[in-house]
Amino acid sequence: MTIALQTLTQAKKASHTAVFLKEGKIIFGADQELLSAEAQSAIEALKAKGKKGSKVYTVLGIKSSTSIVQIRQTPGLDTLDTLRLASCELGKELISQESFTASILCPELSSEEFAALIEGLSFAQYEFKGHKSSTKSHPAIKWGILVDAAQKKAFTAVLKSSLNIMSGVQITRDLINEPGGSLTPQIFQKKIESLFKADPCVKIKVRNKAQLEKEGFNGLITVGRGGPNPPVMVTLTYTPKKVAQSAKSVKLGLVGKGVTFDTGGISLKPPHPMWEMRMDMGGAGTVIGALKAISDLQIPVPVVAVVCLTENRPGANACLPGDIFTAKNGKTVMVENTDAEGRLILSDGLAEAGLNKATHIVDLATLTGAIIRAIGTSMTGLFSNNEELAERITRSGAKSGEKFWRLPLEEEYRSSLDDKVADIKNIGGDAGAITAGLFLQEFVPENTPWAHLDIAGTAFTTKSWKYHGWGATGWGVRSLVNLTEEFTNSKK
Ligand code: BES
Ligand code: ZN
Ligand code: ZN
Repeated sequence: MTIALQTLTQAKKASHTAVFLKEGKIIFGADQELLSAEAQSAIEALKAKGKKGSKVYTVLGIKSSTSIVQIRQTPGLDTLDTLRLASCELGKELISQESFTASILCPELSSEEFAALIEGLSFAQYEFKGHKSSTKSHPAIKWGILVDAAQKKAFTAVLKSSLNIMSGVQITRDLINEPGGSLTPQIFQKKIESLFKADPCVKIKVRNKAQLEKEGFNGLITVGRGGPNPPVMVTLTYTPKKVAQSAKSVKLGLVGKGVTFDTGGISLKPPHPMWEMRMDMGGAGTVIGALKAISDLQIPVPVVAVVCLTENRPGANACLPGDIFTAKNGKTVMVENTDAEGRLILSDGLAEAGLNKATHIVDLATLTGAIIRAIGTSMTGLFSNNEELAERITRSGAKSGEKFWRLPLEEEYRSSLDDKVADIKNIGGDAGAITAGLFLQEFVPENTPWAHLDIAGTAFTTKSWKYHGWGATGWGVRSLVNLTEEFTNSKK
């Protein structure tokens, strides 16, 4: 897919033209010269129909065929997200028609609307090409977007940054969609190295099993004991060429859970739908896609990203329920349930972010089924020890149509994690998503604003949801990019 800004002369050559109608009005002013008489009368007919119609109508015209995208307000989606959805529907329609060039007429867009439009088109184009024997893929549409001459310069920059962000989203989706057998910790590590090898602003440090053992990153060691593919920790340090004045004393720490497959370990999960646990490296995948976009965009804020990669499998050497290990911060942990493994490896990730002097830490993890039971699959659970950071995250999400719902780190529940022998155990009583957050809080470096994002419900979908098809959604990449950008605002 390519997207370019167009002049009217170029738009006239496209095989397809699209206009957007909302509540009977053309919201992106269509240039009459580009619309056939048929298209114009179809628009009139739809106008008369008011809100009845929805989605994409195609009219064959003389000059070009025309799609009339009637935008329907979907309950719960804001204006920008409605637009992402509409432009994704347009993209899918044109892909099914095997159109190769298309013009969208939109001289009256704001830059946020323009970015949303680009995102929608990019979501439509995504396909996971991994494992089909046929090599046939979606036709790559050449999109032309006709904007006002006065907006051209500003929109060229928006276009570039939206495409960078969406390529980060695509990286994340490809990583998460990959099955556990073909994305082991080692393969994941290699993919990370190749993604950043030509990037002078990102330095990579890899710790293999022996180094993890030596340095006492025992969460990863404990979880990784059952699988044939050993655990790895990858730390990526992004140092932008320029640092914003307001970010001089900031280093944003992003920590990701990267369980390349979660069988549950000795506390084995039931067979169905265990296959979905390919997505249990979603936190790590999201952190990697976001960091790539952050670096491509040269956001002037230093970032340290830590991904903890391991399998969670039963095996002759696997961790047994009741086993105790000493975490990197010295606390002893009793593993009551080997399926609550994400929090164990994140104890190492949080410690590593602290050792790298992160001033703010955000961890992302497909951590609990309980978060899905609590708030469903349309939003991510947010836990934080810091109001300011929590607000920044919620704001960053609102810009990208990604919803966060804040839950409490209720201290009354902390005692459910008390153990008879060790300092803490890895599962508590009710409110599983909250006790998971409380567990993590014990491993957050002192005096550090921290937020935990439980993306178990949002990282992967088995039904089509908004502009996401089946599989990985790339949820969180756009919010993390926005969050990093937030630190360039002087208001803390
Ligand atoms: N990876 C799972 C959480 C999960 C569940 C992610 C569903 C995505 C969809 C996690 O490691 C896990 O197994 N959690 C257990 C915790 C329990 C043993 C306390 C859970 O949620 O059932
Ligand atoms: Zn688990
Ligand atoms: Zn897990």
